[in-house]
Amino acid sequence: MQKTLLFVMIFLAINIPTIQQGIGQSTLDRRVDSLLSLMTLEEKIGQMNQYNGFWDVTGPSPSAGDASQKYNNLRKGLVGSMLNVTGVEEVRKVQKIAVEETRLGIPLIIGFDMIHGMKTMSPIPLAEAASWDMEAIRQSSQIGAREAAAMGVNWTFAPMVDISRDARWGRVMEGAGEDTYLASQIARARVIGYQGDDLSDPLTLAACVKHFAGYGFSEGGRDYNTVDISRTTLHQVILPPFKAAIDAGARTVMNSFNDLDGIPATGNAYLQRDLLKGKWNFDGFVVSDWGSIVEMVNHRVTEDGKAAAKLAVLAGSDMDMESYLYVKHLKELVESGEVEESLIDDAARRILKVKFELGLFEDPYKYCDEEREKTIVGHPDHQKGVLEMAKKSIVLLKNENKLLPLAKTGLKIAVIGALAADKDSPLGSWRGLAEPNSAVSVLEGLQAHSQNQYTFAKGAELVTETPVFLKEVKINTTDRSGFLQAIQAAKDADVVIAVMGEHGFQSGEARSRSQLGLPGLQQELLEQVYLANKKIILVNMSGRPLDLSWADEHLPGVIQVWHLGSQSGNAIAQVIFGDYNPSGKLPMSFPRNVGQMPLYYNQKSTGRPTNPGDDIVFWSHYSDVSNEALYPFGFGLSYTQFDYSGLSVETLANQQVRVKVNLKNSGLRDGEEVAQLYLNDHFSSLTRPMKELKGFQKINLKSGESKTIEFLLGPEELGFYNGEGNLLVEPGEFTIMVGGSSNATLSVNFVLR
Ligand code: BGC
Repeated sequence: MQKTLLFVMIFLAINIPTIQQGIGQSTLDRRVDSLLSLMTLEEKIGQMNQYNGFWDVTGPSPSAGDASQKYNNLRKGLVGSMLNVTGVEEVRKVQKIAVEETRLGIPLIIGFDMIHGMKTMSPIPLAEAASWDMEAIRQSSQIGAREAAAMGVNWTFAPMVDISRDARWGRVMEGAGEDTYLASQIARARVIGYQGDDLSDPLTLAACVKHFAGYGFSEGGRDYNTVDISRTTLHQVILPPFKAAIDAGARTVMNSFNDLDGIPATGNAYLQRDLLKGKWNFDGFVVSDWGSIVEMVNHRVTEDGKAAAKLAVLAGSDMDMESYLYVKHLKELVESGEVEESLIDDAARRILKVKFELGLFEDPYKYCDEEREKTIVGHPDHQKGVLEMAKKSIVLLKNENKLLPLAKTGLKIAVIGALAADKDSPLGSWRGLAEPNSAVSVLEGLQAHSQNQYTFAKGAELVTETPVFLKEVKINTTDRSGFLQAIQAAKDADVVIAVMGEHGFQSGEARSRSQLGLPGLQQELLEQVYLANKKIILVNMSGRPLDLSWADEHLPGVIQVWHLGSQSGNAIAQVIFGDYNPSGKLPMSFPRNVGQMPLYYNQKSTGRPTNPGDDIVFWSHYSDVSNEALYPFGFGLSYTQFDYSGLSVETLANQQVRVKVNLKNSGLRDGEEVAQLYLNDHFSSLTRPMKELKGFQKINLKSGESKTIEFLLGPEELGFYNGEGNLLVEPGEFTIMVGGSSNATLSVNFVLR
């Protein structure tokens, strides 16, 4: 009887807007508040608690240790969310407990790292960034979202928008590269791709922009390391993509493992309260990173778990992912007066609101439909979609004497390298629930797209054991027993395709590297093969920029293919044979050696920017390597030729300028070009980069066709942020450079009054 009464009250609370509404308060807010008014302190704290999955669908209820504790808390209504529970059957089971066994029946929000696909894998995000194609990225994100949502998930921990200038950091594969402007556009495209325009649509997910903030600046590129940057770098370089994601509607934010200016991000009130929830008015919720609340004890800013929970909640972390501390300590902290209950209300309110928006109160099993799961996951259209995305992600780096594209018949081709036949590496590091070894290999792709004669020789294994997600990848550094066979194959061939680079698990979280060359014996193998046949196309498959200096100096062809997902081999073959004209441009600078790290195109001029000549050493440079990247940001070749001319600029009212340029496809093939606009502010009150990307457009032109492109720049593009996060637009002279890479030379000046 009592239970029935409660259900009636909850029904009324969430369905009928209450009469005592505040003016201007939305219906949704009123529903949330009505529900909140029925909740005990413990239940509100429960909403702030997130557990990793424990439910074993095939086995009995969890009975021991950690799992049993989690299970009991779930039944008591002390869990608001779970992550890594996937598949309709599994999700339904945990949801059923939350809905049917807890006092209030509040549904769980189910999170998962759907980063670049669920079963059907898209290219890794860094690869997709190389497409500079926002519509393609939106569609690719949508494909992943559809599959994840069909599998019961309603929240993805993406997009990751951490700017990074250091290829040693393994997580560069997960972001959009080194540039703030490009990353901001991509952040927006991804959020729209995941969330669509209706969060309650059962085929969309809530987005979670991460990691707030500064994580990509881990010292030395070592994951989880400390971050020490200025407030101006924070505001100018790191925060804009977060702001872009939030402006696009991202409903949640994840904080980060690192400290920033001495305070862990998870306990950082400046970031979470002052900026995010204050200045930016963000009304979604913040989830901690995995265990990042308890890790504040390791950071040694709090003595114990209780103090860590207190610091995190005061700083604005709303949900505790796998630290188990909120559910353990918050009640006591509120009762002792150390934490105000209003903070708990605020956090619970934010979380409940997103659950309402997802439609979970309307139907907690909304994302649990077996039929939908069967039809959506792995849908043939998704394979087509990820193939298109993969083609657009490939970057042609060198093509001497137009060696590429290759003919489809009549060639004897030696395909060399363990990665050539690898069906697993292309799936990348954050591979969702992809079947191991399910990608189309390069070898399979080449064979399917041509009638050439192929000889495959590994030359050397890349790894000595099958890599697994949790463990260090074991790289072969001694077994050269396949070298001779590879050398022989090269001798007999018209052309060699060497597929080298990194295993899919060599980049990603916790995969920092101190070397950026080809891992293991690959460089040695490549040089030996070169002695037998110089006509080599290097297909570099990696999750980060590698040092390709030797290849660039010696080989006629170099293609960057990243980890391209399920359709990898087909996409690569289509580029090699010219079925697709490559259009990708690098989202990160490729170095000449690892010592150049951190490397980025938008460097400041410093007090000593120029070479005084006569071998005088006193300027900002290295004595043993150029300051320039081997392949700069924004660079990528095509099988056709693009010419820029007639650059002009017109100053308009309201601090706006209009830029026009003529782009011509003067080559013999149709193709796509990414026209890029860079800006230089001659003098400003803070030191500024020598050039910064402020606009780009991807244009499709038929052979011989030309087009006038227009860019409109306003205060946001012409100005810059100071250390307080205020936009300054300072009058004076500017230079605009337009072209096909960050080395664009066509320029024009204007004066902003
Ligand atoms: C990562 C996050 C991820 C979380 C949950 C953490 O280790 O840093 O990016 O979302 O795990 O899997």
